[in-house]
Amino acid sequence: MTSNIDTAVTSVGDDPRRYGFTVWNYRQGEIVAAMIYLGNELGFYKAMAGAGPVTAGELAQRTGQHERWVLEWLRLQAAAKLLDYCGDERFQLPDVAINLLVDGEHKSFVAGEFAGPGMADNLQRLFENFRTGLGNSYEEGGPEGAHRGECRHWQAARNDLIPRMIPALAGVEAKLNAGALALDIGCGDGAAVLAMADTYPNSRFVGIDASRHAVALVGVKAAEMGLDNVELHHADGADLPGGTAYDFVVTLDCIHDMTRPEAVIAAIKGSLKPDGTWFIKDIRSKPRFEDNLRNPMLAMMYGFSLMSCMSSAMSEPGGAGLGTLGFNPEVAERMIREAGFTQFQMHDFKDPGNLYYEVRH
Ligand SMILES: C[S@@+](CC[C@H](N)C(=O)[O-])C[C@H]1O[C@@H](n2cnc3c(N)ncnc32)[C@H](O)[C@@H]1O
Repeated sequence: MTSNIDTAVTSVGDDPRRYGFTVWNYRQGEIVAAMIYLGNELGFYKAMAGAGPVTAGELAQRTGQHERWVLEWLRLQAAAKLLDYCGDERFQLPDVAINLLVDGEHKSFVAGEFAGPGMADNLQRLFENFRTGLGNSYEEGGPEGAHRGECRHWQAARNDLIPRMIPALAGVEAKLNAGALALDIGCGDGAAVLAMADTYPNSRFVGIDASRHAVALVGVKAAEMGLDNVELHHADGADLPGGTAYDFVVTLDCIHDMTRPEAVIAAIKGSLKPDGTWFIKDIRSKPRFEDNLRNPMLAMMYGFSLMSCMSSAMSEPGGAGLGTLGFNPEVAERMIREAGFTQFQMHDFKDPGNLYYEVRH
């Protein structure tokens, strides 16, 4: 048998034990992930927060579950290094776990994002995707999908977009304070468009999304917040009515999801005022695959792409299929300049997951 270790750009090596450990580690990860999902759904982490060392009996009583099953779950969690083991079958949730596993309002909260049984549906769809080449739009993700990551998006809008990012864009904050017309394409759950509408009451905000579930969700929230300066449309960004003069356009984490990003970019070019600004947030990545290999979460990013981003971007015949890491600075600048924009500036707001671009005519 020949080895390609000498010619490989990166090599997994040829130690069968090490390779076996890698593979079994993913098998273990699959199971631990399911048990994190379960622990969140059953309220185990919440019940342990700030409680000090607990026994299975105490946790079972607090959560109304069966003690023997709770004990096995606790042992698994300690074995997975998610809980401290305090001896005598007592287990403790460490303080470092609170933001990630307990506090649903915290920007680092991730326990609610484990797919659980939803993974089976994802996999089922992937068989069809691989066979036909066609992916699934966000709309096909149903109303549930429109809520995914909602809390994180609100945190990003309230803590980053409004106080740090908009003020860094030349002249934009002053226009929004004075009264401007702004557009959020691919507004998703509406965190950005609603936070902006709330912050700048003199301005009008239009949110559009290709998923009717997203648009419905944002409509409900806009009403709850009592906002009367928001207008929502179920539409494709490529179909913007030409000639509408927007002062400010945002596309946040969505160009790489689009089947026709060039058409959407052309539509933005046609609808932005001569002195208007287009602000883009997209996934932090580098043009060449090998230059991304140091990203410790790279495999997960490709998983998101297969199950969500690239799937959406391939959801129509001939879809561009950029995918999660596809709208990197090189691609972004090329597409944007090809559309006729001349001013392209990259902002690095020290967000480990995303890069930002300020574009003008
Ligand atoms: C990853 S979500 C981002 C949502 C939101 N901007 C945020 O930052 O949380 C991508 C959104 O883009 C929408 N989308 C994809 N293609 C679109 C298109 N061509 N026109 C409008 N919306 C689109 C999807 O329906 C989805 O809601």
